Amino acid sequence: MRYLALGLVFIMAAPLALARAIPDPAQKPAPGNEAPQTPIAVAGYSSAVNYQLQCEGCHLGDGTGSAANDTPKMKGFVGNFLKVDGGREFLVRVPGVSQSALNNAQVADLLNWMMRADGIAGGSAPQDYRPYSEAEVAEIRGKPILDLPQARAGMIEQMRVQGIAIDDGVTN
Ligand code: HEC
Repeated sequence: MRYLALGLVFIMAAPLALARAIPDPAQKPAPGNEAPQTPIAVAGYSSAVNYQLQCEGCHLGDGTGSAANDTPKMKGFVGNFLKVDGGREFLVRVPGVSQSALNNAQVADLLNWMMRADGIAGGSAPQDYRPYSEAEVAEIRGKPILDLPQARAGMIEQMRVQGIAIDDGVTN
């Protein structure tokens, strides 16, 4: 009986909780903020700002990531994916990139910015790094990774074979 009552309380509370999570379509902008918002894909921010707005919340400012949240460390490591089969496509297809609000040219610019030796990749990208182009991103972006953990594990294994130290914060 006690459980039944508890269950009823939960069922009755659920719609309210959901209602709170849905943005109110009639909500007015904050005073002073009435101008229509510019979508990030047309805002023309630098890659550094796009990273701050679209990636940093999970990956942190310098790409350290968070093992507790299964967010790999990109700092000084992410460029290694370009040394293994499938890695080049992988970096575009990971959900945080492919499903970002950035357009294809912005994604290409952002990845190229990250791969710079003085960038998040910190020298981990191959010497003969070939920049991503807008057309390349357009071509690969829409193809999802069907089994991300397995695909990633296969690439980490390829890195190990090449003698690359796996400093990604999430692999034991
Ligand atoms: C909501 C959190 C979140 C956001 C926002 C996010 N990511 Fe991620 N990212 C992750 C997680 C978690 C992973 C691990 C793979 C997975 O589960 O998707 C990951 C994986 C990656 C990887 C593969 C690295 C590896 O070692 O496997 C790259 C590259 C990447 N993200 C880049 C970006 C970029 C660039 C952006 C911004 C455009 C971004 N991410 C936005 C959470 C996020």
